[in-house]
Amino acid sequence: MHISVITIFPEIFSGFLSTSLIGSAIDRNLMRASIHNLRDYTGDEHRSVDDEPFGGGPGMVMSAIPWISAVNQIAESNPGWRILLSPQGTRLSEEKVGELATRGHLILLCGRYEGLDERVSDTVVDEEISIGDYVLSGGEVAAMVLIETVSRQIPGVIGQWQSVQQDSFRSGLLDYPHYTRPRKVDTLEVPDVLLSGDHRAIADWRFRESLRATLRKRPDLIASVKLTSQQRRILGQVEAEEGSPLEFSESPTESLLHQNTGRSSHESAQTEKTRLRTCTSFKR
Ligand code: ADE
Repeated sequence: MHISVITIFPEIFSGFLSTSLIGSAIDRNLMRASIHNLRDYTGDEHRSVDDEPFGGGPGMVMSAIPWISAVNQIAESNPGWRILLSPQGTRLSEEKVGELATRGHLILLCGRYEGLDERVSDTVVDEEISIGDYVLSGGEVAAMVLIETVSRQIPGVIGQWQSVQQDSFRSGLLDYPHYTRPRKVDTLEVPDVLLSGDHRAIADWRFRESLRATLRKRPDLIASVKLTSQQRRILGQVEAEEGSPLEFSESPTESLLHQNTGRSSHESAQTEKTRLRTCTSFKR
């Protein structure tokens, strides 16, 4: 996996790409990251990347030509899937991450200011991705989120592949609670079952607690989880323990299922001159 990033703030990425799991993955040649300074693709001596908006209005707009030159030059040697990080994009999800992880080369465009001249999207962008419904000052932090989550899907990046498989959202359920030493923190003790050595009982407890965490924190997720009839029975028990927020005949799960299927909201939800450039390569 090769990830190229285009930004006017390349320095933001240096600590991120040299630390922890990503730093180690790059050291071990499991992935490669190249950071390109957009200003290196400008044609003027001031290396300017923005201008006033046609039609007036506040702020500045990033000019199309440096972006188009940068993307085309980077893609020339290694064509890639070109992603603009933008609040107007498709929301990033674990499913989308899995799809992106199968691509050999991702080219990430990190915009700033009021955004990019529309002709960038029209010509050199395959997909716009947002990391959430809020506005960041630029796409750099969003690109880091994307890089981190995609890197987790590259075999060998996470020491224990099992922990990737068990990540929240992969199963559709949130994670169960975790504990480590000491056994007692003030009056709070580690659940006995985790000290029992009974692996079956521990797995059962963890499944129940995943269900409980999902019901409490993200009940909207429950309706889309695929459960066996035995697991569905356990869900019923956990719902009863938690106290159903609905006082009628439907359990919260049934109610959500009906909302989703009955009203079909589930379906609806859903090289210019060759010149010196400062591409910081994070491949050693
Ligand atoms: N740039 C600004 N806000 C963003 C967001 N929410 N997601 C991705 N890129 C962005």
